[in-house]
Amino acid sequence: MPTESLTVTDNRTGATYELPIADGAIRASDLRQMRVDTDDFGLMSYDPAFLNTASTRSAITYIDGDRGILRYRGYPIDQLAERSTYLEVAYLLVHGELPTKEELAVWVDVITRHTFVHESMKRLMEAFRYDAHPMGMLISSVAALSTFYPEATRVDDAENRMLQTYRLIAKVPTIAAWAYRHNCGLPYVYPENDLGFTGNFLSMMFRMAEPRYSAHPVLERALEVLFILHADHEQNCSANAMRAIGSSRVDPYSALAGAAAALYGPLHGGANEEVLKMLAEIGDVRHVPAYIDRVKAGDFRLMGFGHRVYKNYDPRAKIIKATADSVFEVTGRNPLLDVALELERIALEDDYFVSRKLYPNVDFYSGLIYQALGLPVGMFPVMFAIPRTAGWLAQWLEGVVDPEQKIARPRQLYVGAAERDYVPMEDRSAVAVG
Ligand code: ACO
Repeated sequence: MPTESLTVTDNRTGATYELPIADGAIRASDLRQMRVDTDDFGLMSYDPAFLNTASTRSAITYIDGDRGILRYRGYPIDQLAERSTYLEVAYLLVHGELPTKEELAVWVDVITRHTFVHESMKRLMEAFRYDAHPMGMLISSVAALSTFYPEATRVDDAENRMLQTYRLIAKVPTIAAWAYRHNCGLPYVYPENDLGFTGNFLSMMFRMAEPRYSAHPVLERALEVLFILHADHEQNCSANAMRAIGSSRVDPYSALAGAAAALYGPLHGGANEEVLKMLAEIGDVRHVPAYIDRVKAGDFRLMGFGHRVYKNYDPRAKIIKATADSVFEVTGRNPLLDVALELERIALEDDYFVSRKLYPNVDFYSGLIYQALGLPVGMFPVMFAIPRTAGWLAQWLEGVVDPEQKIARPRQLYVGAAERDYVPMEDRSAVAVG
């Protein structure tokens, strides 16, 4: 007998069932034994948007939304943000442990050696319209990478999986920077392998005629912190997409393109872009109260506020706020910061937001930093996708070897028409379709 169980009586039949509880969960498939007759498929659980369904066991990221806790592989996010580098955190996410000095040196070296992309990728990117959204370019280009590495389909080969992992972590920043250069009409800058991960990225973004681009160390470190904070966030919309697509055993480039597409949406990684649009629309602290009133009236949402999991201050938002201060000391204060601070102040006092536990999330301040770094809003979700690549890969690597996983295939509750005979064209009448 399991030590923990749930006793359920099916009132349709009077039968009683004992369902084991493990790790605070019952297995939805245990409900299938509850049938009214032998033709019955069995009871299902209905959970649109996975509000209360764990889709996997995972040892990567831990979140306690009520207490505002985020840990990667057990390490608190604030300690990692303060003391680590992004590539060290990427190693931690992928391998499960912090690297030794030697392991880190090898990891950094291998990632650095994979930063170049095939010249045909450059021509592919050049074919986008001059004003193509950089996230659209990133998604398509990552999908296109799969055609350069046909062996990536061998997802059952551990060595092969790791090779694609190196390539993706290394090449996504190159593609991201080139998407930006494409929008600017500037020549694409090749990676500089003697620069650090964020220094190289900033060089690919901003280098002009100078033989070598040196980013301001404060800005380079700020980007490192932002990348650490965005590296993973357990089973969010895009991680779920990565795992679901990967469960078909497709190559990781195709799966990651799908994950990036999920991130692009304004309710997910696209929110930082929306926050900046919102702050620009408000324009002045004097307009904040009226804007809040419209949010409360249901006209629109306050972007960068609220989270499916955090019902407390997003721990990443706190760190980002401090990072923003260090960046503004170098770049000058972003005038929209005052609008953001006033929005936060009023919202945190207002019963509408307090009662719904709506706090600033990671995206509320990240956009202000990106803007101070000179990035256009279209690049904001791209800046999220670069570090999240490590998280997506960690989730994928865990999922593809999980013996409990199969191809992701939810059930549905069919609510459509019952069987009916085909109606010939001449007998049909127009029916309003939505
Ligand atoms: N502004 C105003 N009201 C909000 C907001 C918001 N940002 N977020 C939620 N609410 C309200 C809802 O209207 C709802 O109110 P009701 O109970 O009166 O109907 C209540 O709070 C609960 O909202 P849900 O939509 O049920 O919450 P859910 O967990 O599904 O949504 C989400 C989470 C999508 C993040 C939501 O808070 C939102 O849309 N926020 C704005 C977009 C955003 O910032 N997204 C980034 C998330 S972080 C990330 O992905 C990296």
